[in-house]
Amino acid sequence: MKTVIEKISNDQKILNQNKIAAAGKIIQEGGLVAFPTETVYGLGADALNPEASRKIYEAKGRPSDNPLIVHISRMEDLTAIVSHVPRQAVKLAQRFWPGPLTMIFKKAKQVPLQTTGGLDTVAVRMPDHPVALALIQAGGGYIAAPSANVSGRPSPTLAEHVAQDMEGRIPMILDGGAVGIGIESTIVDVSGDIPMILRPGFITLEMMWEVIGEVRLDPGLAEDDPSVRPKAPGMKYKHYAPKAELILIHGAQEKVQQKINDLTQEAEGSGKTAGVIGTDESCGCYCHGIVKSIGARSDEATVARHLYAILREFDQQEVDIIYSESFSSSGIGQAIMNRMLKAAGHQIIEA
Ligand code: TXA
Ligand code: MG
Repeated sequence: MKTVIEKISNDQKILNQNKIAAAGKIIQEGGLVAFPTETVYGLGADALNPEASRKIYEAKGRPSDNPLIVHISRMEDLTAIVSHVPRQAVKLAQRFWPGPLTMIFKKAKQVPLQTTGGLDTVAVRMPDHPVALALIQAGGGYIAAPSANVSGRPSPTLAEHVAQDMEGRIPMILDGGAVGIGIESTIVDVSGDIPMILRPGFITLEMMWEVIGEVRLDPGLAEDDPSVRPKAPGMKYKHYAPKAELILIHGAQEKVQQKINDLTQEAEGSGKTAGVIGTDESCGCYCHGIVKSIGARSDEATVARHLYAILREFDQQEVDIIYSESFSSSGIGQAIMNRMLKAAGHQIIEA
């Protein structure tokens, strides 16, 4: 299959309606289109068409029990796909939609089980991106979209990343340039009594607490308790992973830098190519290996934005091992560390 890559402006006023219409037609006819959102690129299909959802699993090589997020563009479209909208969900939607927050509801009948991985709940999000919103409308209102990577690979934050994974597998990629946030949406389950965060993201527990009061973290997210299974099926898979082994180093900054210098020197001594993930503040302190800055420690949003791209760059440079600094576990840092620990298979060394 030939993959058409269409460059498309993110400026709402000059959105190319012909390109959006062509992409919407592919979706309506049951095909797949990759498109930008504010978090990561998505791989979209008509969420109400079971055969279209099946194609997503096939293109990604994704296990069929891992449910998809349904993307909508208008609040009034929510009621058709969920059986009940809890009061807290209304408040969260008013505050954070469109935006990087996915909510889990009890599903309505018309959402096929192929889209929800067999579950009786459905994940819904309204993305904050003009191209995504226009495509959802052109595609019929309900687009199921996981991140547009091959299952297990880092999520795409550029159209080039989508092409690396999906070229030849899907008919169209809408190229809206680099995404703004860089890690996937926060997922909160509002189908039970107390809202529960199943995947940390840009919208933090503290931000939701301010709007609705009590919110909890899924105990399955705590990496120190392997006996508790995460509630979001996708969180149990090895994920976001680069091809090289990734090891995180934790501790006081100076000690971390010393440790990474020791480890990279050792790696080079045994003939390996090592990669180092440092920050704008620390990169000058590293003496061995291929050193990249992931962003500014003083502004962790920049770290989130560059994380997946840096893992893919190291893949292309075919390094054998990557050593990375670790980050705070508050605010957006919690989401960064959640993704980094998964990419590292939870390998973390104390400096
Ligand atoms: O930012 C995002 O959320 C991106 C963009 C494209 O919107 N999408 C995304 O989708 O990250 P995906 O498929 O890569 O991750 C969806 C996660 C998976 O971990 C899945 O298991 C979980 O959401 N999920 C989906 N539906 C669920 C449900 N009904 N109950 C529990 N977890 C669910
Ligand atoms: Mg994903």
